[in-house]
Amino acid sequence: MAQPRSLVILTGAGISAESGLATFRGPGGLWEGHRVEDVCTPGALARDPALVHRFYDLRRAALAGVAPNDAHAALARLERAWAGDFLIVTQNVDDLHERAGSRRVLHMHGELLSALCAACGHRLTWQGSLAPGTACPSCGSPRLRPDIVFFGEMPYAMERIEAALSRADLFVSIGTSGAVYPAAGFVRMAGAFGAATLELNLEPSAGSDWFDACRHGPASVVVPDWVNEMLAP
Ligand code: APR
Ligand code: ZN
Repeated sequence: MAQPRSLVILTGAGISAESGLATFRGPGGLWEGHRVEDVCTPGALARDPALVHRFYDLRRAALAGVAPNDAHAALARLERAWAGDFLIVTQNVDDLHERAGSRRVLHMHGELLSALCAACGHRLTWQGSLAPGTACPSCGSPRLRPDIVFFGEMPYAMERIEAALSRADLFVSIGTSGAVYPAAGFVRMAGAFGAATLELNLEPSAGSDWFDACRHGPASVVVPDWVNEMLAP
């Protein structure tokens, strides 16, 4: 296939599922009996900071026990071979794309391995647990929090994402249910600007009808197959 010039890839929890990281809406989408939607909110952080910090401490610790899978590796291979504009917009807060070698990755929902000062906006890499009340190294405020976009908060870098979607020749969505906006609307935005659109997912998603084409199967199978096609001479 002749390489389109500009490629935007959206990834969701499904690309990390085969690495052992649970998705949000699949079986077991609860955590300690809490709906994720009830833990990842500014209100929960204000009401019960220890619960919210514990939730992210456990997810941050779980990263040490998982590894990128063949889907992450295939996207890194594609990026290395890509001549034009290339961007992975991920809803995931894990670092599996980076550990697989991807460089042009934008985390629109934040990152587990980052902490954010709610007072001054300072960001720093964070490993291990982050206790409520930890002081910001920049301003000293005790409001260092997980660098995660909570429900009701604005995703990061939306202007950069929309600019990339407006230039895309091809938009590919991998492992996302199409249940959460604004990411669920990216296929329509890219399509409206003339991009071809492809969904690679385990099964039909809420947004499948908006795609030009859909391929269903485990990401570790359908993504490498698709990348091999894209790189075939
Ligand atoms: N291979 C490919 N796709 C898979 C696999 C797999 N092995 N396993 C599951 N999937 C698909 C599911 O079919 C589903 O469509 O991945 C998708 C996961 O959907 P969600 O659990 O809703 O995760 P996601 O779409 O990333 O959620 C979006 O919602 O809770 C918020 O901020 C959170 O970023 C998250 C956002
Ligand atoms: Zn600060």
